Amino acid sequence: MSVFEGRAWISKQGLVDVSIEVDNGYISSVKKTNLEPKKEKARGLILPGALDMHVHFRDPGYSHKEDWQTGSESAACGGVTAVVDMPNTNPFTSNLSLFKEKEQIAKEKSVVDFGIGVNVEEHLTEQDWFSTIPSAFWKLYPYGISSEDYFRLAKEVLDKTNKPLVIHCEHPDYMHNNPLEKLSDHTNNRLVAEEKCLSAMPSSEYLHVAHLSTSNGLNNLPALSSTEVCPHHLLLNLDNCSSLDCKVDPPLRNVSDNNNLYDAYRQGKIPILASDHAPHTIEEKRSDTPPSGMPGVETMVPLMLQEVVEKRLDLSRLVNSMSEAPAERLGLNRGRIEKGQPADFMFVDLVDSEKIDVDSLHSRSNWSPFEGWEAIFPYKVFRRGELISENSEVVSKGGGLNLFD
Ligand code: NCD
Ligand code: ZN
Ligand code: ZN
Repeated sequence: MSVFEGRAWISKQGLVDVSIEVDNGYISSVKKTNLEPKKEKARGLILPGALDMHVHFRDPGYSHKEDWQTGSESAACGGVTAVVDMPNTNPFTSNLSLFKEKEQIAKEKSVVDFGIGVNVEEHLTEQDWFSTIPSAFWKLYPYGISSEDYFRLAKEVLDKTNKPLVIHCEHPDYMHNNPLEKLSDHTNNRLVAEEKCLSAMPSSEYLHVAHLSTSNGLNNLPALSSTEVCPHHLLLNLDNCSSLDCKVDPPLRNVSDNNNLYDAYRQGKIPILASDHAPHTIEEKRSDTPPSGMPGVETMVPLMLQEVVEKRLDLSRLVNSMSEAPAERLGLNRGRIEKGQPADFMFVDLVDSEKIDVDSLHSRSNWSPFEGWEAIFPYKVFRRGELISENSEVVSKGGGLNLFD
């Protein structure tokens, strides 16, 4: 058994001085204390580890961009103790045997716990494993598909599923491919794709809208659905991130979209924070045909902790959106410092602001749109009671488990 002492974020109570006992990786008790020094006494705060339900760790198939080791180490150093990986690897994660292959790779290499999303393809709901595969959710993309098929598949899955359907909601008929000379050309190619997609989506409690990016999308969210926002759609726009490096899907917009999304996020109307960590190499990003996507799993929590310090965000909203809400959305008993939950937490000191330095990050993509931004990195991160990173260095290898097994 181990004991952690410090000022911790306790769900529904706020910051409380506590002593947390951990047995076999799970919290066995949380007691109020007067902070007598014991074994692990945190300076600053103890917060629950984050669950980032939208990452692309590129493994198998694109390990020159990232793999389960580099991706998960990047997560760990950013306070993210669990991730859900998207299915657009090579091959796509689209059936039980490909799922098992990816799960095996993740079990061998990932230092954080994980879930795996399965791609929606024709006949998915007829597969004999449809209701039993230990996946986090289904994922539907609008790429290379007609709008008829896209909306039909969404409806088929929503009618039959008992787990979330996560959609990349850009309407296939409104995603244009006019050549790009500057970043705003990409935004203009997709100007109304999100709102057109969302207004055509049926309402369902199983629907989860990934990476919401526009005010008009926000105003057209299907009833009952949940949604997530990424730091880049809150903080970046065509003015402060204008090079083609910042090409991402859905695209960056303008400051008023940032502000409207941020207000909705503050109010909990957008309940979940996710990174859409989508690493590509700098050579790929600077090529004539730059792919969309930016890394973000390591900078998500540090950037938003800085937002807390600058009083633009309440700590309670940050903890809820990074830990409690995603866990609840995925039906997982985690995300809170509470008896019976996994001992996933980070120690952070809110005086630790520093400028983001790409050379200190762990993603293989080796760049960040947030280079030079002030951020607060956790100084210790624990996964099921085990120290996995300290001062932005990984101190443990592998050990991650499927959250849905
Ligand atoms: C993602 C990727 O690179 O896999 N890119 C992106 O711009 N977000 C795909 C996606 O999430 O749509
Ligand atoms: Zn997407
Ligand atoms: Zn994505």
